[in-house]
Amino acid sequence: MAERAEIFEVGPRDGLQNEPRPIPTAEKIALIDTLSEAGFRRIEVASFVSPRWVPQMADGAEVLAGIRRVAGVRYAALTPNLKGFQRALAARADEVAIFGSASEGFSRANINCSIEESLTRFQEVTEAAREASVPVRGYVSCVVECPYDGPVAPADVARVAVRLFEMGCYEISLGETLGRASPEAVAAMLEAVTAEVPADRLAGHFHDTAGRALENIEVALGFGLRVFDAAVGGLGGCPYAPGAAGNVDTIRVARRLAGLGFETGLDMEVLERAGAMAHRMRGAHG
Ligand code: HMG
Ligand code: MG
Repeated sequence: MAERAEIFEVGPRDGLQNEPRPIPTAEKIALIDTLSEAGFRRIEVASFVSPRWVPQMADGAEVLAGIRRVAGVRYAALTPNLKGFQRALAARADEVAIFGSASEGFSRANINCSIEESLTRFQEVTEAAREASVPVRGYVSCVVECPYDGPVAPADVARVAVRLFEMGCYEISLGETLGRASPEAVAAMLEAVTAEVPADRLAGHFHDTAGRALENIEVALGFGLRVFDAAVGGLGGCPYAPGAAGNVDTIRVARRLAGLGFETGLDMEVLERAGAMAHRMRGAHG
């Protein structure tokens, strides 16, 4: 039997958060409802961040209230602090994610605090989540390069990843935020991180600015990672990482994983439909 690899669909969150056109809530719900039929176990659908910082994600509660929840799918949301966690809990998110950075410059630009301050806030979130029995995922951004500070040392990534892991994150997603890392740099980073956090608790989150995300996924497979974040239609970018393109396209990742002999459990026909919807949502600048 083929070995399993999982794609964590992040299009409705990481994909849409950067779209300049205000996307109607109903369109987001329709995309998520289609994705729910594709066979994902986890879909990131909302961010409970400041609506002044990321207006596109202001309707997270309405999105979570409007979707058709399919059994076996966990609907996830980003929560930068306790306020975000409480909003996510009220909206019945099945799991939440805290999101830190391996570089100080991105931490300040993205969540307006130092790495150390962010870890204190995240500790509060993980404690509240434990109390409420909500699983928490952790992101580390800028695992190879930062738009503000330049190259990031692998040891800095490992240091933040292990702190998130120790505070109770069930999985740490390693964000190659700028999407232009070389496979060699990704390997050096994974060498350091897998020495601290088991590979089966790590996920790869590759943006695809330079078109090397699939190569980098193969590198990560070699280190034992089996979970990869991707966005249907290659949607996205981060508002606080200027110039970064979207996440690697879910369909391309599914095809590559299948070609390498991994079973993703995804229905390609449904994914194609969701991909077409995502392209339409992208509108004029896509
Ligand atoms: P701040 O201004 O430092 O926060 O922002 P604050 O605690 O001083 O509060 C200021 C105001 O924001 C207050 O309102 C708070 O109530 C409100 P006021 O009293 O002025 O009316 N506020 C909130 N409102 C709603 N929900 C909340 C919340 N928290 C405070 N949770 C904050 C700090 C983190 C909130 C802000 O910097 C923020 O929202 N940043 C958004 C970051 C973001 O969403 N970035 C994109 C996602 S990360 C990403 O894409 C990378 C990833 O994909 C991995 C990768 O690719 O690398 C994950
Ligand atoms: Mg991202």
